[in-house]
Amino acid sequence: MKKFLFVALPLLAVVMFSFAAIAQVKKGKTRPLLTKQLMGGLVQPNCKDLGAGLKKAPADDKAWAALATKAALLNEASYILMADGRCPDGVWAGATKTLQECSDVVLKKIEAKDAEGAQGAFQAMTKACAACHKAHKKK
Ligand code: HEC
Repeated sequence: MKKFLFVALPLLAVVMFSFAAIAQVKKGKTRPLLTKQLMGGLVQPNCKDLGAGLKKAPADDKAWAALATKAALLNEASYILMADGRCPDGVWAGATKTLQECSDVVLKKIEAKDAEGAQGAFQAMTKACAACHKAHKKK
């Protein structure tokens, strides 16, 4: 019996842990927002518009300000990704850190009206999308 528990308990722990990890990736522990909704409603549209907007230097202050909003929202999204028990592992945490740091650089370059610099940081930021999706986005 003792021997059985020795094997069964760790096994149970592993099974429960992997279920928890799946649940966390798709949705946080307590708040209703699905990761899918976070991606489709906040991350994807702002990433797309930011990339398009940085293709050439924004025309006026209003255009710069609109891009700053998008970079700041992407930065905020990185905090949501780490909140509410959503983060399952180091790959997730690392990709989120890249998203956080690079979006912060994008924002600073936008504030300095440096379109080329912002575009470079944007390219680096999109590596975070690919890194996390490769590990955690099921086909
Ligand atoms: C830390 C992890 C992580 C990062 C970083 C991340 N994503 Fe995601 N993304 C996911 C996961 C997990 C899913 C799948 C969610 C599901 O279907 O439950 C997803 C799904 C998506 C989807 C599909 C949404 C849908 O409606 O099915 C899009 C689009 C997307 N991500 C865009 C992006 C973009 C653009 C970036 C970078 C700016 C990004 N993601 C960064 C984890 C991440």
